[in-house]
Amino acid sequence: MSTLLNPTTLASAATALKSIWPEAKPKAGLVLGSGWAEAVSGFQGQECSYEQIPGFGKPGVMGHAGKLLATEIDGMEVFIFQGRRHWYEGEGWTPVILPIYLLNAMGADTVLLTNASGGIRDDLGPGSLMAISDHINMLGSNPLIGPHHPTLGTRFPDQSEVYRKPLREKLLNAGADAEGVYIATSGPTFETPAEINQYKAMGADAVGMSTVPEAIVANAMGMQVAGLSCVCNWAAGISKVPLTHEDVNETAAATMPRMKSVLTNFLKTLAGEGRQ
Ligand code: HPA
Repeated sequence: MSTLLNPTTLASAATALKSIWPEAKPKAGLVLGSGWAEAVSGFQGQECSYEQIPGFGKPGVMGHAGKLLATEIDGMEVFIFQGRRHWYEGEGWTPVILPIYLLNAMGADTVLLTNASGGIRDDLGPGSLMAISDHINMLGSNPLIGPHHPTLGTRFPDQSEVYRKPLREKLLNAGADAEGVYIATSGPTFETPAEINQYKAMGADAVGMSTVPEAIVANAMGMQVAGLSCVCNWAAGISKVPLTHEDVNETAAATMPRMKSVLTNFLKTLAGEGRQ
């Protein structure tokens, strides 16, 4: 199986979604990462299962039902992708960046990417909410490798400001604790202490296994990108205990009221601006 993006699958997915919701005109999108699902509990709208959209892959691979919620925040249409596919799942780039392609195809110009991460910088302990200021790609690959598809932007996209300054300011005003640089590794292993030392020296503030592919593609397509990371543990070596996915989820659950509040405030500010 090729890992390269499959433009035919992407186009069919967009056609399928447009036929499910022909009238939808989302302004913004949200991709929910590990532990973030509860942050949108109570948001009302229409749902569709990822199974109705070709390209997301086999149901069950994600460990939870993948679904897309079409909702409205203060009159602004927002598409919320609940369940993301990761590079480490080994099914190539198409399912990983599909939410971005779909948002763009439906006309959305802004996306907020959320994730869980391990804290590297001293002030980013468990429970911190970090607005991503920039990223370091240590995935060992890039979703835009392969034949150039002009629908995904230029051959050599500029990445001087992937995470747009005005959106970062909105996240801080919405209650995020700090800004920082997110480094993405392929996973699925957590890092070694030696790797974390190296990443710290490189300028990374938090580490995770997602978000960077979606940010690369959204930026290449000309979308406004924001990133919000829930730091769920101290990174390996800084942490005195072995890392587990369960502990990550537990910290996310304990931080949920703040995650929900930052997310909601951010979307409301965006909606308010759209009305001006
Ligand atoms: N490393 C990588 N991914 C993560 C971590 C981590 O420490 N915590 C949550 N996701």
